[in-house]
Amino acid sequence: MFDPHMLQQDFPILSTPLKSGKKLIYLDNAATSQKPQVVIDAITQYYKRDNANVHRGIHELGDRSTRSWHEARKTIATFFGATPEELVMTRNTTEGLNMVAYSYGEACVREGDLILTTVMDHHSNQVPWQELARRKKARLEMIPVTREGMLDLEWLERKVKVEGEKVKIVAFPHVSNTLGTLNPVEKIVRLVRAFTKAVIALDAAQSAPHLLINFDRLGVDFMAVSAHKMLGPMGIGALFIRQSLLENVSPWLFGGGMIGEVTKERATFADDLEDRFTAGTPDVAGAVGWAAACEYLSKLDMKKVEQHDKELVNYTLEKLQAIPEVEIVGPVERVKRYEVRGKRCGSVAFLYKGVHAHDVAQVLDSEGVAVRSGHHCTMPLHAAFGWAATTRVSFNVYTSKEDIDVFVRALGKVKEVFEK
Ligand code: ALA
Repeated sequence: MFDPHMLQQDFPILSTPLKSGKKLIYLDNAATSQKPQVVIDAITQYYKRDNANVHRGIHELGDRSTRSWHEARKTIATFFGATPEELVMTRNTTEGLNMVAYSYGEACVREGDLILTTVMDHHSNQVPWQELARRKKARLEMIPVTREGMLDLEWLERKVKVEGEKVKIVAFPHVSNTLGTLNPVEKIVRLVRAFTKAVIALDAAQSAPHLLINFDRLGVDFMAVSAHKMLGPMGIGALFIRQSLLENVSPWLFGGGMIGEVTKERATFADDLEDRFTAGTPDVAGAVGWAAACEYLSKLDMKKVEQHDKELVNYTLEKLQAIPEVEIVGPVERVKRYEVRGKRCGSVAFLYKGVHAHDVAQVLDSEGVAVRSGHHCTMPLHAAFGWAATTRVSFNVYTSKEDIDVFVRALGKVKEVFEK
């Protein structure tokens, strides 16, 4: 049985009391997740037992480290339904998306071309495209978000029909970090492919912790993820690249490890994807820790993880609906209360009438409940809806319904504090 209370015991930080002596109720998982002991141990063991640089030293530790790196890459690729040949290690999702902009965009986008991203995207899937458009004198437009918090696919259809092959890149999030919207990836891919030859870049940072993802089946060309949101360490992530695109993707970071041959004048680059895009010493311990996180999640079974998340989202929507001061943001189907049909994932953000989100977060913090407040790195989305700031609760495998109850009780204090 999937029991978040049992899982909490695997995460040392969750049983470490706060300064106030209160129990931590961690509902800021969309920002970063906590790490289970197996991940902490895998990283420690690597440094205690195997640490050496990869692909360089002809010695026992060098071999062990290189083997750890390759095994970790394989585990991570398999977790996402991809092959190691399609996987480039990055520092995080943001770096992966920048890599698409620099390595593919720089070569393939020309003056007057159109790049599409979305109003609901995180800044990491907006700013790299703004900068690419500026460098190439290309155009950038953002797919609008409907009042219900969904991508406006009618707008997208009109746009791709009119612009056709002028559209060079379409970038969008699998799950919105603010609205919680779960976007219909396959549908968007079909629409884009029907009228354009654009490449499609998916930001899967917020879906990877909760959904069973199969890169090949999603049908996108690039997919960026971060380890730290899915129980792995900070500072490591991946960009998955469709193999047929490889010849259009050139290196964007240069140095040792990624070369074929170097003369005083110039260099050739490694043929192999892993080497070509791994300039300098990689984060082997990070990869080992991330692989341990993937194994932990696989053992739990991602289908059950997905179901657990759905139940938490529905439970939270139902509880928040009962509070008159709260306005939930993002898609909500008002069929039988707040029943949600597969359109949300991972988080619920809301406005609290008459109280700024930072004040809400501070009251919650005083009760031991950690949430995120502000614009969540989605300023264009907040501007589009006229929100100054929102408060967001977000979940992970160790989140229980009782945690949501503590949060809802703590929210009751907001009224007490601000009505005085
Ligand atoms: N992108 C992360 C969040 O939504 C940091 O909080």
